[in-house]
Amino acid sequence: MKRVFLLGYPIAHSLSPAMQNAAFRALDLNWRYELLETPRENLRAAVTRLRANDCAGANVTIPHKQAVIEWLDDLSENARRIGAVNTIVKHADRLIGENTDGYGFLQSLRDAQFDTRGARVAILGAGGAAHAVAFAAADAGAASLAVVNRTEAHAVRLADALRQHFPQLAITVNRSEAIKDATLIVNTTSVGMSPDGHASPMPGEFPRDAAAFDLVYRPARTRFLRDAERAGARTIGGIGMLAHQGAAAFRLWAGRDAPVDVMTAAAAAVLRETEYTIRNTEYVMRNE
Ligand code: ATR
Repeated sequence: MKRVFLLGYPIAHSLSPAMQNAAFRALDLNWRYELLETPRENLRAAVTRLRANDCAGANVTIPHKQAVIEWLDDLSENARRIGAVNTIVKHADRLIGENTDGYGFLQSLRDAQFDTRGARVAILGAGGAAHAVAFAAADAGAASLAVVNRTEAHAVRLADALRQHFPQLAITVNRSEAIKDATLIVNTTSVGMSPDGHASPMPGEFPRDAAAFDLVYRPARTRFLRDAERAGARTIGGIGMLAHQGAAAFRLWAGRDAPVDVMTAAAAAVLRETEYTIRNTEYVMRNE
């Protein structure tokens, strides 16, 4: 039996095991996706575990997407420019860091029939997810990118990295006018995630005529998406991106096409079971 691991902390509520194990079953692979809960001080040992013969690869999540790079043998070009790894693949005995988040983002936009060419994209946040989204949007022909982030220095770092690769692209940092002018606004921050479901990452009103994309998928209807909907905007939740980044990772490990529909359905089913609800002013997992 082959194993694929998820490295992160905390990861107990991850949807990836249900999603990937459903895919392995659908293709009759004797593979298993397992949680490898990894506090920071165990990261090096966890990567060493991946070198054993039974392991086919891994996913990496919070808080290790950047820190893991130090322990890998090489990076794909995409992971290198983003500076973050969400997938580890084995080539011979070498561990190669990849990043499938940007692919998942673009594929989810395609499913929603949003044309990224010529789009004016505003990105809320400037962390690893924002890097993946920004580079993917630039690859897909966005006309401009506006980075908006609480810590301006982080936004400047992302803008500088983008300018190096896309010198022609119009890029702004922390300009609220750029949000009013955007055709696509993407939340890459954790603001609005359960149990913080009432918070919005938007610095102002949601503008008319923009589409809203929230990387957060728990809760499925975030305050950001609800506000956007009220303003008449098209909304896209994070579950599609989650499934597509997972499908791309599956293809890298298994060398076979991924059953994306099976994966989406499996992730959505767990999400429904574990959606947070409000009990006395506190968010709690429905099953706890
Ligand atoms: P990820 O890999 O998921 O992108 P990250 O690299 O830790 O995670 O980035 C988190 C992003 O969410 C950052 O842009 C962070 O803003 P700062 O750069 O100011 O830290 C943003 N973020 C997290 N919590 C936030 C909050 N409460 N309000 C505003 N922004 C927040």
